[in-house]
Amino acid sequence: MISKQTIDKIFSAVRVEEIIGEYVQLKRAGSNFKGLSPFHDEKSPSFVVSPSKQIWKDFSSGKGGTAISFLMEIENFTYPEALRYAAKKYGIEIEEDKRELTEEQKQAQTDKELLYKIHEIANDFFQHQLFETEEGTTIAYSYFKERELRDDIIKKFQLGYSPEQRNAFTEFALNKGYSKDILEKSGLSIFPENAPNGIDRFRERVLFPIHSFSGRVLGFGARILKNNIKTAKYLNSPETEIYHKSSVLYGLSQGKQAISKANLCLLVEGYMDVIALHQSGIDNVVASSGTALTVDQIKLIKRLTENVTILFDGDPAGIKASFRSIDLLLAEEMNIRILLFPDGDDPDSFSRKHPQDYVEDFIKTQAKDFIDFKAEILLKEAGDDPIKKAESIRNIVKSVAFVKNALKQEVYLKEVATKFGLSEQSLFNELNVQKQIQNQQFSPQQRSEQQQIRPKLEIVPATALLLNPLLELEEKLVKHMLNFGDRVLEKSDADNQPFKITVIEEIISHFNEDNYEPQSPINQKIIEELKNGLVNNEIIQSNFFLTLMDETIVSKVSNAIIGDEELSNWEKSNIFPPKPGDKLEVEIEDDILIHKSHFIEKMIYDIVKKLDAVRDEDPAEYYESVKKIMILKSLLNEINKKLNRQLTKGHSFFKEQKL
Ligand code: CTP
Ligand code: MN
Repeated sequence: MISKQTIDKIFSAVRVEEIIGEYVQLKRAGSNFKGLSPFHDEKSPSFVVSPSKQIWKDFSSGKGGTAISFLMEIENFTYPEALRYAAKKYGIEIEEDKRELTEEQKQAQTDKELLYKIHEIANDFFQHQLFETEEGTTIAYSYFKERELRDDIIKKFQLGYSPEQRNAFTEFALNKGYSKDILEKSGLSIFPENAPNGIDRFRERVLFPIHSFSGRVLGFGARILKNNIKTAKYLNSPETEIYHKSSVLYGLSQGKQAISKANLCLLVEGYMDVIALHQSGIDNVVASSGTALTVDQIKLIKRLTENVTILFDGDPAGIKASFRSIDLLLAEEMNIRILLFPDGDDPDSFSRKHPQDYVEDFIKTQAKDFIDFKAEILLKEAGDDPIKKAESIRNIVKSVAFVKNALKQEVYLKEVATKFGLSEQSLFNELNVQKQIQNQQFSPQQRSEQQQIRPKLEIVPATALLLNPLLELEEKLVKHMLNFGDRVLEKSDADNQPFKITVIEEIISHFNEDNYEPQSPINQKIIEELKNGLVNNEIIQSNFFLTLMDETIVSKVSNAIIGDEELSNWEKSNIFPPKPGDKLEVEIEDDILIHKSHFIEKMIYDIVKKLDAVRDEDPAEYYESVKKIMILKSLLNEINKKLNRQLTKGHSFFKEQKL
């Protein structure tokens, strides 16, 4: 866990306009910056960054937040990932909060940090070897050139070279003070008894660093330079504390933005496939790199998109692998298409033969849905044999059975029925058989794990507000507290004695007076925090909420403190409309009263709702209820009068009360 001090340090160092400036072209607009939304294609800018408030808001999607939440949104980082990324950018050292860890866990943490560090160093070392040494340039660099890789692509993927000398890197790392123990744990060095100085795992190979989602180097893939040597073509890092090959996808770090923007992830087999596609301008691609696709890997993709197109070369092993992947992807509720490349081509060779447009078009038009794909392959195999043909159809229905969404499942089943001229009923029976088989194969725990999804932001839709005036006013009051919490109001008490009170105190005491329960859970949390602050004599400011680890609160708070008026550029035309907060005293008094009136209306409504039921059963209670209603109504009248005095004419907030 990142310590609270570090989080505070990061938040005070980070400049929202600098972070966002790397993704969006920002132009000054009054005291703010404006640009085109990076989340939508748009022509007129609706993306606003406020340097004074250190927040951003995208008016086209309603999203907003801090620099950290921007990173989470655009890079699809988790909260800690975004913090680490920002810390690195601003040169802030991360302090881990280890108070609650055991000694053993602390040691493991330290090891992990060292492993990340040593991979960073190794990555630099290998790149240096490639570009700056004679051996590197003559052997490895020229190899990449032979494979027609451009320099910018070599740099983008941080490709490197490990020299022939058997302990070049190990020696380098030992000299830098890294221990044998950590070198061994990293998998980069081995220390056999007969070689106490250590041996490099990767020698005389070109290196492909494997990055985490957020871009940290976790391990390497390493390829021999010549094709005819009898040793394995690729050598990969072993499993370590930081590298778990089943939960890593090659190219994810470089491709995640493109995947999210295209809302499609291309899935290929190898390192070179990913790199070659990038070189031809297609960036939304990842590789499972030699392992069969896993559920963890699918979850990584799912952070970005639910659409996957599998690109495989047409060898039998590739096709088999794609069958397994199809079922797994379907079970994870992904939408899939599959593309087989023609005779002997893989994405690497194909994309080097054809221009980008052609490749893109080929992928778009030639990819088949899984039913057509499986049908084509299996039926070719089955020929005229009716038994084999039935087996093929069963195989396809098996895949359909993995689809969780009932509606989609039915659509697929219909497609199979039409395609083979079979009755839906017989396919439906087969489907149920397959489902039963699957249920026996998956343990309940596996199933519940599969159902975990990332919680989506809770955004209160505008229509909900319109239908619930009480919530609307609650929103307003919370907004006042977030924007002007510490502003002092001059008021007078019942004896006309002047006194001062802060906005937060005023509104919170209004809530307390009525034992008011907030309508929305987020407001509830915010009000709770503000109350706690008051108990400790503290006026909590909106910044406090922005550093919380709660995405929904961060989004809510930043939306509250960046208003719609920030989108329009009044200052430029020398028009100065009243700023919110200019007439705070009146505004807040009104809003409290209006809120109160809606609250009373709701109480009346709640009692009326039950009135019919108690009329005959419990006359005493009925009488009580009617009395309560009378009292509430007269209270409402009083408030009404006050408001009518204060509000402009014709501006009525009350609807006819049906009693
Ligand atoms: N692979 C591996 N170990 C091997 C062979 C393959 O880990 N001995 C993995 C690599 O991630 C490789 C992928 O499987 O990228 C696909 O293998 P292959 O098609 O043989 O490699 P290419 O990516 O086509 O590599 P190249 O074009 O350099 O031959
Ligand atoms: Mn290849």
